[in-house]
Amino acid sequence: MKKYIKLLILLIVYQVSAQQGGMWIPSLLEGINETEMQNLGSKLSAKDIYDVNNSSLKDAIVHFNRGCTSEIISDKSLLLTNHHCGYGAIQSHSSIEHDYLKDGFWAMTGDEELPNPGMVATFIKRIDDVSKQILKGVSDNLSAKEKQSKIDKNIALVKKNAIKESWQDVKVKPFYKGNQYILFITETFKDLRLVGAPPTSIGKFGSDTDNWMWPRHTGDFSLFRIYADKNNKPAEYSKENVPYKPKHFLPVSLDGVSENDFTLVFGFPGKTDEYLPSIAIDQMVYKINPAKIEIRNEALKIVDKFMRADDKIKIQYSSKYAQIANYWKKWIGENQGIKKSKAIEKKQKQEKEFSQKVENNSKYNNLLSQFSKLYNEIDDVALARSYWAEIVYRNVELLNTSIKLYQFEYGILKNPSSFKEERNKLIKSYTLFYKNYNAKVDEPVFEKLMTLYQEKIPSTYLSNSLKNTDIKKLTKEIYANSKLTNLKDLESLLKGSYKDVLKKINTDKGYLLGKELSEEFYININPKYNEIQLQIQAVQKTYMKGLMEVFPDARFFPDANGTLRVTYGKVNGYYPRDAVYYQPVSYLKGVMEKYIPNDYEFDVPQKLIDLYNNKDYGIYGENGKMPINFIGTNHTTGGNSGSPVIDAHGNLIGLNFDRVWEGTMSDYNYDPEICRNIMVDARYILFIIDKYAGAKRLIDEMKLVHPKKK
Ligand code: ARG
Ligand code: GLU
Repeated sequence: MKKYIKLLILLIVYQVSAQQGGMWIPSLLEGINETEMQNLGSKLSAKDIYDVNNSSLKDAIVHFNRGCTSEIISDKSLLLTNHHCGYGAIQSHSSIEHDYLKDGFWAMTGDEELPNPGMVATFIKRIDDVSKQILKGVSDNLSAKEKQSKIDKNIALVKKNAIKESWQDVKVKPFYKGNQYILFITETFKDLRLVGAPPTSIGKFGSDTDNWMWPRHTGDFSLFRIYADKNNKPAEYSKENVPYKPKHFLPVSLDGVSENDFTLVFGFPGKTDEYLPSIAIDQMVYKINPAKIEIRNEALKIVDKFMRADDKIKIQYSSKYAQIANYWKKWIGENQGIKKSKAIEKKQKQEKEFSQKVENNSKYNNLLSQFSKLYNEIDDVALARSYWAEIVYRNVELLNTSIKLYQFEYGILKNPSSFKEERNKLIKSYTLFYKNYNAKVDEPVFEKLMTLYQEKIPSTYLSNSLKNTDIKKLTKEIYANSKLTNLKDLESLLKGSYKDVLKKINTDKGYLLGKELSEEFYININPKYNEIQLQIQAVQKTYMKGLMEVFPDARFFPDANGTLRVTYGKVNGYYPRDAVYYQPVSYLKGVMEKYIPNDYEFDVPQKLIDLYNNKDYGIYGENGKMPINFIGTNHTTGGNSGSPVIDAHGNLIGLNFDRVWEGTMSDYNYDPEICRNIMVDARYILFIIDKYAGAKRLIDEMKLVHPKKK
C-alpha cells in the first residue's frame, strides 16, 4: 500500500512537472524529458525523436522560409505548414482574375505546382554542444566587450573547423543566456513549390477577430513540396528538379485526439524571455507595450477602412495588415495575462528569495541592483527605439522606403564603384514593394502616426525638423511632391550618373525627412540602446547561472532562439475565467454558428456548407461530427506556426498555429493553468484536401494510419 501511495505521489509530481512548460533541445532528451514524456503516455524513446545515425522524427521537421515550421508528410516531400505561413506565397501568385487567397489553390498535377523564388526550407542534420570550445579563455576579469569579442573569435574558429558536406551550412547559437553554446549543421533547399491552399474563408476563418482566441474554427494550413536536383541535393529552381526523397516523413493518424492524449510539438520557436527580472517585465507592460499598441491601433483603423472599401487595396494590404494586427492583438493579451497571473509579483517574490540566498555571495549579490540601474538607464532610449521602429520603420511605408534609400546613399558614398549594382538591387526591391503600395492609404497613416511621434517620443530623440512643425501641412507637402509615392517617379529619381542621383534624391522632401530620421536612429538612438543592452545581457548571463545554482531543483529550459525544439503536454481544456470552462475540441458545427454570409471574416464557402448539411465527412469524421481545432498544454511561441503535433507513436495528429488569448504571456511567464496552444486537427486538413478540394492525389501519396485501433 505504502509503495503504491509513493508511486502515486511520484506520478502526480511527474504529471505536474510535465505541465511546467519548456522548450527542450532535441539532442538532449534522454533522462528526465524522456521519462516525463512517457509518463504523459508517449511510447517514443529519445532516439525515436532525435538520432544522428539513423532516421528519426527530426528528419521530417523543416524550418519553413526561416520563420515558420513545416513537416514532411509523404515520401515525395509533400510539405505541410500553416496558411498564414504560406500567405505571402499564395498572395504573390494572386491577382484580381486568379485570386488564390479568396478561392484557394490546388495543383491537380505535379506540373501545376507553382515555384516561389527566394523561398527556402532548412533541415537540421546534426546538433553538437560546443560550449567548452566557445567559452575557452572567456575569463571573469574581461570586460563585457572583450568577452564578446573572444566568444566571436571562438565561434568563427569552431565554424571553420566543423565537419560538414560542401552544400551544408553551420551555425552556432547561445543557450541559457550564453552559458551554453550549440552548433547546428543545416541543409537548405531552394526550390519550394506551392501545392495547395484552402480559400481564406477556411484557412483564415475568423481572421483577426478570432486570432489568438479559443474557441477557434480555422483550417490554417497550406501545402508545398520540396524539390531537389537529380542527386537529391539542394538546388536553385529548375524545371529538371524532382521531388526530394526525405530521410523520414510523418504518417498521418486518422484516429484523432481525446482529452489527456499525449502531444508533442516539434518546431522552431523564435524568441522567449522567461528569466527576465521583474523590472524588465514592468517596463514592457507599462511602457513599451502600451506605446506599440496605440501606434498599431491607429494604423490598423486607417488601413482597415480602405481595405473594406476597395478589393484591390484589400489584396495589396491583406498580408501587411494581418502581420501588424497579429502582434497588436498579442501584446494586448500579453499585458492582460501578465497582470492577471500576477507575473510581476511572482518574479519579485523569486528575486527576494534569490537575494536572501546569495546575500554573502559576491558573484551574485549585486545582480538585482545592477538590473535596476540598467533598466532605469535604458528606459527613455528603449521607448524612443519603439516609436522609431513602429512608426518610421514599420507603419509609415514612405518612411520605410526612405530608409532603404538612405542605406543606399550611405553605402555608395563609402564605395562609389558599387553604384550601379546597388541601384539595380534597390530597384528590384522597390518593384516588389510598390506592387502592394498605395499612397492614398499611406498618407493618412503618415499624418496620424507622425503626430503621435512628435507628441510622444522622449524629446531628446525628436529630430529638429519635427520640433514645432505643423504635421498636417508637412503631410500634404510630402505626399504632393515626393517622388517616393510611386515606382515610376522613384525610378526617374534614380536615373542618371552617380552625382545626378545623389543630387536629385537630396532635394526630395520625403527623402530628406526620412534621412534625418534615419540619422537620428543610427547615430543617437541605436548605439546608446545597444550599449546598455550589452551590459544588461552580461548581467542576465550571470543571473541565469545564479538562478540555476541557487534553485537546483527547479526545471530550467533554454529560452527559444529560433532553433529546433521539442515541447510536450496533453490535450486539455481550461478555465479562462470564473465559472467558464473551455472544452478542448471544436467542431464544424461551430463554423456554422459563426457563419455570417458575405462577411469579411466569417463567410463560409457554399461547398463547405453543403458538406456540413449532408454530413459528408468520409473517413475523416468522428461519430457524425467533423473536428476542427483542439488545444493542449504544449509550450509554444511564434515560429512554432506550422509545427507538427505528434502522437504517442510518432504520427501526425495536428498542426500548431496559435495560442489562446489568456496565455500569450507565456513568452515571459508560462502558466500551466491558462497557457494553451491551438492546433488544427489533421482530419480536418485531410477532409478539406479530399472532400472540399477533390485533390485526392495528395491523400494518395500520404500514409494514413490507425494507431488507436491496433
Ligand atoms: N496568431 C497566429 C500567429 O501568431 C496566427 C496569425 C495569423 N492570423 C491572423 N489573423 N493574423 O502567427
Ligand atoms: N501563430 C504563431 C506563429 O506564427 C504561432 C502562435 C504562437 O505565437 O504561439 O508562429
